[in-house]
Formats: sequence, structure tokens, C-alpha cells
Amino acid sequence: PIITDQLCVKGVLPPHALPPFQCCPPPPSTSSASGPINFTFPDPAEPLRTRRPVHVVGAEYMAKYARAVALMKALPQSDPRSFYQQANIHCAYCTGAHRQLGYPELGIQIHFSWLFFPFHRAYLYFFERIAAKLLGDPAFALPIWSWDVPEGMGIPEVFTDEASPLYDPIREPSHAPPKVADLDFSYRLEKNLTDEQQILHNLRVMYKQVLDPSAMISGAALPSLFMGQPYRAGDAAKPGAGTVELAPHNSMHTWTGDNSRPNAENMGVYYSAGRDPLFYPHHGNIDRLWECWRRIATGNRTHEDFTDPDWLDSSFLLYDEEARLVRITVRDVLRTEKLRYTYGGVGLPWLHARP
Ligand code: C2O
Repeated sequence: PIITDQLCVKGVLPPHALPPFQCCPPPPSTSSASGPINFTFPDPAEPLRTRRPVHVVGAEYMAKYARAVALMKALPQSDPRSFYQQANIHCAYCTGAHRQLGYPELGIQIHFSWLFFPFHRAYLYFFERIAAKLLGDPAFALPIWSWDVPEGMGIPEVFTDEASPLYDPIREPSHAPPKVADLDFSYRLEKNLTDEQQILHNLRVMYKQVLDPSAMISGAALPSLFMGQPYRAGDAAKPGAGTVELAPHNSMHTWTGDNSRPNAENMGVYYSAGRDPLFYPHHGNIDRLWECWRRIATGNRTHEDFTDPDWLDSSFLLYDEEARLVRITVRDVLRTEKLRYTYGGVGLPWLHARP
């Protein structure tokens, strides 16, 4: 398994990157110098958080998310729960800053591999709990950007209010609402479809990316087509992405980022994507698609996650809502109910949109 080492070095940022250029977490405070604690599940009596789409939860709820982001932004940069550090965590895990335990020469890259879904689930889990803690609302659930349903196929208005903590000035201006998103956007290649055509196209993209990986297989299930390729201790980074990681995940990142910049910041490039408050609702939807995939039956079976111990025992280091460093494994994040959250308020209109 890939075990994240506490050792973090300066990651590899692309040319023309915007500061900050260093994304390792702050060194542990002397009082907690004892190293990471192992993850434990939340109390099963905790309220079950229900993550629902931005377009469903309404303005009052979105004001809550905005307040959470403002509170995180107000924490000192040295606090691992600050918005600054939360964005940096993503940067560290996607620029090879953290080292693989036992392989100090190898940086960890959680994209383009089977670590993609579980890493982001763990990351969002703590982000959401930090938000809930700061809000003093133990049932707070992250809103999700459900770009796979027609009502969510565009940047939600609330993120474009310049006075809001949810605003990010570094986005593609021509993709501001009411522009309909292009779920398999290629960098700088506009399709110029009508809204109606684009929506239909998007539903077909969803069908293809979520359902085709299983439809193509006879006999044994190959979760790697959906989840990404195996990535084991000592392996070089980026063995291969799953379908959804490529699109709509990557494509919606570049569609959102500023296409006039060489790296399409903020959303369009790994190191800076977490600086946009839209990143977290975007990943909520990605995480939801993992759940959808597991529950969708093709033929007469549901989809199964990997059972390979190299996947299950891979682990990440993240900070919890008490600012404690926690080691969490892939095995820990397989059941959202055990993490005390679920998804609601959204259907699967693409389920029959066979291209
Ligand atoms: Cu870690 Cu959406 O990228």
C-alpha cells in the first residue's frame, strides 16, 4: 500500500504558478509532537449529514456554507483548519510533496490512480467536519455542485457574488452563469452548442462515463475502469485515471478555471484548485458519483469496490476538526453512513441517456 509519510518537501508546481509556492502543512505544534493518531469512526449517534445540491438547499443554507468558508479564512494561516491550509493540503497531495513511507525519493500523487476517489472522500470528510465545528452546527453538510442534472449544469449564482466569501476572481469569465457547463470540455475548445444540445450532450457524457466501464466487461468486474489503476508502494505516480476522473472531473476543473492563464487557475490545475470555494461542492458531486456507481446494478450485479489490500491499506495524513493529525486509510472511507453522511435531493436523469 501507499503509506503517506509525514515527510513533506516542496512539491513540483507548474511554470507560471501563482503564490504561495509551498504547500506542506505547518510543522506540528510542540504540544502535539507525538505524531499522527489513527482514525476512529464518528459516534454512530451523530446526526446523519445529508449533502444536497446547491440548487436545492436554497439561499439560507448557502449563506451557512459561505459563513463556514469565511470562518476558515479568518483562522490564522498556521492553523491546519484554515482555508489557506485546507487548500494547501490538496496542493501537497497533488504535487508530490508528501513522500511515500519507505520511499523518500517518491512523492505521492493521488490523481490518475485508484487513490483518487478515497483520498478526496477523506479530505472532504474532514473539511466538512471542520466547517460544522466552526459553525457550531453538528449536522452541517457540505452542499454539492450537481452539474450532472440540468438544474445544476453551470456555476451556481451564489459563487459569483463578488461580496461573498464563496467568490473566486480567478475563474473563466465567459463561463459565468447562465452559461451551461460542458461536462467533457477540452481546454479552450468551446463546443458552441445551444443550451438544449449541451444539456443532452452532458447527460450522454454521464451515461458513458459512469455506465460504460461496466457495460464493456464480460464476466469479472473491473473496478479500475471506473476507479482508476492500481498504485502500490514503490510505484511511479499516475498509473492511469478512471473514467469519471477524466470527465467530468478534470474537464469541469478546466472549464471552471481561467482559460486565459497558462495553467487555468484556480480550479483548472491541481496545485491551486482548492483555493476556490467551489472546489468542495464540486468534489461532493464526484464523491456522490462513487456512491451512485456502487449502487447502480448492471446486468444482475452491483458494482464492487476493490478488495485488494494494497488499496484498502493505503493511508493519508489529514487534520481533523480539533486540528489533530490523523492517519486515515482507504478502508476507513468505504461506507459513507459510517462516516455519518449521505446524499439526497438529486436524481440520476442520465441513467437512460444512452448515447
Ligand atoms: Cu484533487 Cu478535483 O482534484
